[in-house]
Amino acid sequence: MTLTTSPLALHGGSPAVPNGAIRPSPPTTALDEAYVLRSLRSGSHAWGENCEALQREWADWNGNAHCLALTSGTAALQMALVACGLKASDEVITPAYSWTSSASCILHHHAIPVFVDVDPVHSNLDPAKIEAAITPRTRAILAVHLHGVPADMDPILAVARKHGLAVIEDACQAHGALYKGKKVGTIGDAAAFSLNQNKMLSAGEGGLFVTDDAERLERGRSLVLFGDFRPPLPESENPAYGLGYMYRYNELCAAYARAQLTRLEDSIAHARRLFAILREGLEGIPGLVLPREPEGTTENAYNFVCHVDPEAARYAGPVNFLREAVVTALRAEGVPVMVWQRRILPEMAAVAAKDAYGNGSPWREHASTVEYDPAQFPHALYHSASYFIISDLRLPNGEEVARMIVEGVRKVFGNLDRLDIDDLAKNADVSIYERGWQRHRL
Ligand SMILES: Cc1ncc(COP(=O)(O)O)c(C=O)c1O
Repeated sequence: MTLTTSPLALHGGSPAVPNGAIRPSPPTTALDEAYVLRSLRSGSHAWGENCEALQREWADWNGNAHCLALTSGTAALQMALVACGLKASDEVITPAYSWTSSASCILHHHAIPVFVDVDPVHSNLDPAKIEAAITPRTRAILAVHLHGVPADMDPILAVARKHGLAVIEDACQAHGALYKGKKVGTIGDAAAFSLNQNKMLSAGEGGLFVTDDAERLERGRSLVLFGDFRPPLPESENPAYGLGYMYRYNELCAAYARAQLTRLEDSIAHARRLFAILREGLEGIPGLVLPREPEGTTENAYNFVCHVDPEAARYAGPVNFLREAVVTALRAEGVPVMVWQRRILPEMAAVAAKDAYGNGSPWREHASTVEYDPAQFPHALYHSASYFIISDLRLPNGEEVARMIVEGVRKVFGNLDRLDIDDLAKNADVSIYERGWQRHRL
């Protein structure tokens, strides 16, 4: 591996990725315009034929029996929990690192999130740690296919079946990803996808709930449109009435989503080709750990998740200092990088305070003794402090963009010893020292 040592943009050199080289995703085509205009001119802008068609088309594309189109992935997650019979005071196991929705959907149903650490390599729920977190209150496991990489579903399903728990897939980032040949969202009891702007299937905003079970579909549906129509199941000893929200989707976005769906297969294949260029071009750089596709899975190439390795980079300070310095230098090169969540879910303000709705709700009224000390989740902490994402590896950006990005990353890592890391990281979060993180090799 030859690293590039030409001057960094940060030090006055030319950026590897010139301004304007990266174009926003998704590209919009004549087909998008035709779908959206037809919808606009139809005069029907709330629920209508595009929403109905999107549900059928997504169910067919993904291989699910049922689909409901909703306002967001968060709404779809909450529906999935309700569909699986979640009640107030129940516990749901979810990974310690994810987007806040993977925990807030549980809290919004007055149930209690119980976090389990992630595996150190792929940062998905670690199946080996689930059983120790199960209590008599546990009702479900909410697995997340983070960054478009499928969670290890077989052992998750095995432990769930052993303990009679429902399995929900948070597939909000993972449209089209495969686990042992199966599309995500077809493996557990119910699943949620997001249609938010930066997702692989984008409609600006939106969500898709899927299940193969007609009873679950109806139970979840009670939440979508104001609710309060559905009496509890007769055999239920602790009934939940399905009090509703307003999560109904709309025609214009559904029309846009339908047009985008016609190209989803091609978009994923293209993004995977760009991932391959990055993997090949960045292999073997000291201090940079590249994402690995887990055996038996096909990622959808949503996020190219890298980690810095301070030991290999011969940096003795905290890992997040190195990460912040690298990210600053990459940004100056024009490389599209981002750090998404710098904190883990047990550190969400409402969770850490155990007070989501005031008066300690929902923990206090259910006398929950669950613990959220971040130090229990060393891999999630390490991930949150060491990773960065190379984004925009998608249409309309092509192979030439991927090659410029490779050049920018090589330049930054080729110049690591010229970076004043402590200065560049002077605004980095020093609380990492107190949060119990430990170094481990990825
Ligand atoms: C893992 C994960 N779950 C849930 C969501 C929520 O999706 P939405 O923004 O559509 O509500 C997101 C959105 O970014 C996500 O990344």
